[in-house]
Amino acid sequence: MTPIRPGIDALEDSPILHIFREGIRVPGLIPMWAGEPDVPTPAFICDAATRALAEGRTFYSDNRGTPALRAAIAAYHRRIFGVDIHDDRIAFTFSGMNAVMQVAQAVVAPGDNAIVITPSWPNVMRALQINGAAIREVPMTHGNDGWRLNLDDVFAACDPRTRLIYIASPANPTGWMIAPDQAEALLAFCRDRNIALLADEVYHRIVYDRPAAFSFLHIARPDDPLFVVNSFSKSWAMTGWRMGWLVFPAGCTAAFEKLIQFNTSGGLEFMQAAGIVALEQGEDFVAGFVAHCRAGRDIVSQRLASMKRVRAIPPQGAFYVMFEVDGMTDSFAFCRRAVREAGIGMAPGTSFGRGAETMVRLCYAKSPALLHTAMDRLEQFVAGYEEAA
Ligand SMILES: Cc1ncc(COP(=O)(O)O)c(C=O)c1O
Repeated sequence: MTPIRPGIDALEDSPILHIFREGIRVPGLIPMWAGEPDVPTPAFICDAATRALAEGRTFYSDNRGTPALRAAIAAYHRRIFGVDIHDDRIAFTFSGMNAVMQVAQAVVAPGDNAIVITPSWPNVMRALQINGAAIREVPMTHGNDGWRLNLDDVFAACDPRTRLIYIASPANPTGWMIAPDQAEALLAFCRDRNIALLADEVYHRIVYDRPAAFSFLHIARPDDPLFVVNSFSKSWAMTGWRMGWLVFPAGCTAAFEKLIQFNTSGGLEFMQAAGIVALEQGEDFVAGFVAHCRAGRDIVSQRLASMKRVRAIPPQGAFYVMFEVDGMTDSFAFCRRAVREAGIGMAPGTSFGRGAETMVRLCYAKSPALLHTAMDRLEQFVAGYEEAA
């Protein structure tokens, strides 16, 4: 018996973690399981942190982030999305994950339920569960051409105890992006019912046919119950820095100042200095990084399309693709064997809730040579794959 409360021990461990623990022991394994590029943070961002450290900027900073970083975030929203966000609605957070956790703390309580559109990044479900919400998964469907969200399914899953709806666009793991008319309808529903809409836009720059993905901020009013989570991790190759930001509704400033104070007491100033440089001077890097991802997407899409028994669902954004294999129903067993027998690390669809149980996700934000080797290994592995009876 430990002193840990029952809900914590009961949290589901990610199947990806099991695959990862086995995989790190395999020499020469090609890791495509996590949402992380093989590119390090660019030097101009690292240099800004080093400079700030050398200047002695190691003190506590404002709970919602330094005024300079908040101003840079507001300017970024004006430039990229064409929207004005008042400083009172912006907070720096210790990663996108931490932003999600703080929204969960702010909104849900035991006895509430929260809608999660799946397949989904699993951490958000756990953050909501830790705060007492029951999760109602609403699975998307897919055809050969892509993923589809039926909003009537979302609306039908809500009841008076529904406090929050989570949606990611571009989405992990599917790469799906919401169309503006669906976003309008979903936001209007949340506005009418006073349900918090948690919009996860951390992949907003990892898109291939426009400068940035459509944002809920394009259509929202300041007092809508909309929380937009963002992150430095993906667009600027800063996964290890644990830096993100949150835009919350007008009138919630005091609540988030308290939550941040009691969670993290604000972020490191020298990291925030690097964040400003990423936002203000990062456009060339973002363009190059998106080109890197596009090359990876094209290689993986072509190679998967040419493999017998494999059917990939075309992604629109983010840096993942999901695929099915004829005769494979147990994605966890498939990924485990792929680690041991083929030296490739992929994420089983069982990690992402309902709708992708028999699928596999891989991250293609990797160099072309590595992806070709991975696809050679996958092709051979799939050709000989037989599911245990
Ligand atoms: C959809 C989604 N949201 C949020 C995050 C969190 O990003 P971070 O905590 O690195 O900022 C991730 C990370 O994989 C993600 O896939």
